[in-house]
Amino acid sequence: MVEVVKHDVVIVGGGAAGLRAAIAAVEADPDVSVALVSKVYPMRSHTVSAEGGAAAVARDDDSLEMHGYDTVKGSDFLGDQDVIQYFVEEAPKELTRLEHWGCPWSRNEDGSVATRAFGGMSTKRTWFAADKVGFHMLHTLFQTSMKYDRIVRYDEQFVTKLLVDGGVVRGVASLEIRTGQVRAILGRAVILATGGAGKIFPFTTNGMIKTGDGMSLAYREGVALKDMEFVQYHPTGLPGTGILITEATRGEGGHLKNSEGERFLTTRDYGLGTKAELGPRDMISRAIYQEVQAGRGIKGSYGEYVHLDLTHLGEAKLKERLPFVLELGRTYAGVDPVAEPIPIRPVVHYMMGGVDTDIDGATPLSGLYAAGEVACVSLNGANRLGSNSLTECLVFGARSGEKAVEFSKGSNEGSEGAIQTQIEEEVARLDALRGRKKGGEKIAQLRRELNVAMESGCGVYREQSSMRACVETVAQLRGRVSDLRLEDESKVFNTELIAALELINMVDVAEAVANSALSRKESRGAHACSDFGSRDDQNYLYHTTCHFDAAGPRLGKKPVTLGKWEPEERKY
Ligand code: FUM
Repeated sequence: MVEVVKHDVVIVGGGAAGLRAAIAAVEADPDVSVALVSKVYPMRSHTVSAEGGAAAVARDDDSLEMHGYDTVKGSDFLGDQDVIQYFVEEAPKELTRLEHWGCPWSRNEDGSVATRAFGGMSTKRTWFAADKVGFHMLHTLFQTSMKYDRIVRYDEQFVTKLLVDGGVVRGVASLEIRTGQVRAILGRAVILATGGAGKIFPFTTNGMIKTGDGMSLAYREGVALKDMEFVQYHPTGLPGTGILITEATRGEGGHLKNSEGERFLTTRDYGLGTKAELGPRDMISRAIYQEVQAGRGIKGSYGEYVHLDLTHLGEAKLKERLPFVLELGRTYAGVDPVAEPIPIRPVVHYMMGGVDTDIDGATPLSGLYAAGEVACVSLNGANRLGSNSLTECLVFGARSGEKAVEFSKGSNEGSEGAIQTQIEEEVARLDALRGRKKGGEKIAQLRRELNVAMESGCGVYREQSSMRACVETVAQLRGRVSDLRLEDESKVFNTELIAALELINMVDVAEAVANSALSRKESRGAHACSDFGSRDDQNYLYHTTCHFDAAGPRLGKKPVTLGKWEPEERKY
């Protein structure tokens, strides 16, 4: 018998966006009950691994206008300007609110909040707590959420399906990882806050949990994934593991050097002007790639890399501002950043695209909202500026929480029979997959093939032939995932079943990324297409939408909301 529990709002995901949404929801209405369903214990959400900081105007030499313009330009003019305007206005309020909830922002000598430089930002705008910002923000949000007993947590639960009746979302089907029990968690509104999908690529800063689950849940119910071709490579990940070496290293004055010891961003023309190491991520990743192509990379066991040199910053500054980087360098790269350069390479970090939402976080499916990296509210366009995303989780987490409460008041529970049927079908699907010995395909093998296809087809640079090959491989993988072989029949902590479900989700997301990328025959932001080298506003100034269809994905377009900043050539 499937257990059914009822709340007003169901939030899937326990990271920054999910927790902020939960707090906003209970603060919006004293009677509202919220379910917070998370694949992991919330303090293990991927937010915890954020390092460098969160952006918001704080200084006298800064303005909302400047933050807005930097974000629009960083997005290569694909960000929606109404969304960006709202974001920059709310950002300082959100970061100050977090301070009041206990977030230990680093301070200046005079006691004011310290800010540091970040790529593509025209002044020091990034608030930080040394280089463990995600940890401190998550801790602050988590402990604040615990004040409210109306936030009921369902930890270590894997949501496998959205329950939809009469064109309205009514809740989720959730698999308890510890017991294998499936539960219907019903709500009059559902918010997805499950983060991104970096694990579809082999080299990524993303944790194991980032398998695009929320994107797939929405995609399967007919909601478009938007702007999925825009995948952000962070310029400085460790080769092999992909562990993030924060952009704050460059914000604090670090240099990138090639095999000749040359600070190539200052000596060669990569379109970055005096920004050099403080250019936007898409352009710096391409510069590193070109250095390696030109034979100025350094050979290593995980491919070629370049150096991030912090040695001139001095031990005292590194210990104060970048203690985690010291630890990561010593533990995972075998170098002491005080005395030696760190090997780095561009690694997949962030999805600009995601579940199509409006400025309220509302998706086209009635009652379904999304916030944070899983969503594409169109803040980041074709390239996100570093440190805008933690703030995005707060600003749009809060807004979606409030809007979901409003929606829930006017909604009802839907038909009990229809929900019951969907839950029974879901239990049957999971039972059939668990210990499915008749299958011929191995999870690890398909996952490896997916990773290889994505890296070679949709990497830092793409070309039509490699993207087409990627589309074909992903289409084949879609067929092959229906023939998985699973060995573990048990219900308790069946991590093999979870891995299978994650792989199925990853194929959905990869399908949207590859097909969207192939359709955009221009270069814009993170979508650098070798065969179409420049931006083409005449034909491609639009958001790409990708809808699931059993016969193959359906692509469409949505207009970009422009405003006071007309598209112009993007150079620094
Ligand atoms: O480099 C970093 O610390 C990453 C920040 C971000 O992605 O916003």
